[in-house]
Amino acid sequence: MTKKNEKIKQHVKKTYAELAKGTSCCDATTCCSPSSRTLHAKMIGYSDEELKGLPDSVVRTVAGCGNPTALADLREGEVVLDLGSGGGIDAFLATKKVGPKGKVIGVDMTEEMVQLAKKNAERMKTDNVEFRLGEIESLPVENGTVDIIISNCVINLSLDKGKVFSEAFRVLKPGGRMLISDIVTQGELPNEIREDPKMWAACVAGALDETDYLQKIRNAGFEKVEVIAKNDFIKMVSSIKVRAYKPSD
Ligand SMILES: C[S@@+](CC[C@H](N)C(=O)[O-])C[C@H]1O[C@@H](n2cnc3c(N)ncnc32)[C@H](O)[C@@H]1O
Repeated sequence: MTKKNEKIKQHVKKTYAELAKGTSCCDATTCCSPSSRTLHAKMIGYSDEELKGLPDSVVRTVAGCGNPTALADLREGEVVLDLGSGGGIDAFLATKKVGPKGKVIGVDMTEEMVQLAKKNAERMKTDNVEFRLGEIESLPVENGTVDIIISNCVINLSLDKGKVFSEAFRVLKPGGRMLISDIVTQGELPNEIREDPKMWAACVAGALDETDYLQKIRNAGFEKVEVIAKNDFIKMVSSIKVRAYKPSD
């Protein structure tokens, strides 16, 4: 990895480690009070009903750009993998939908986030969830064992998005699906933004142009790749919800 990329990766880790420890916040709008964090969570698509059942330690680290489990059509008994699970919000919402016969695995590269998510699982007495420390470019998950992959505002942070999608393809069962909420751009961002580690950690600088992003998913082998929702975020930057399928054998 180049020195520049290593610096970006370390800055991303540090940012989310601080969010997990409660020593910083994702942005100025989310850090003031529990009510503003709840407001932020509602703004990105979580319902009152969904938030009501979650402890503050889950809601305070919400750092996504959508609500993937609301669109994922999860079914009882399914195995779900959450890429970049953070404090665990989407993993916990998924556990309720897949029930005791199902299972949810969250993977995150930031140790402090994984520790927090594990504590949150204990607090919530949820035992059909497991959080693993690992990188989404090299998933600690067996081949062909997952029914559905979800992810919320994480893949934009990866320095090798092609590898992330090929790893996602590897771990899915034939016919498995992916429902991702992520940030993309409409065109190229200026270089000074692209090279700023803080703008990477803010989920902006690493975002790919939408067309390139969708092509990388297809290149990994996925079919029926479809943007099912899109919201403008800031100028040139949007949040999209993408669904894609691994072909059946
Ligand atoms: C913007 S936060 C989103 C967290 C969570 N999905 C949510 O919606 O609240 C990004 C998370 O992805 C993790 N992350 C970033 N890059 C990663 C990578 N390459 N591999 C694994 N985790 C990564 C970070 O540690 C952080 O917890």
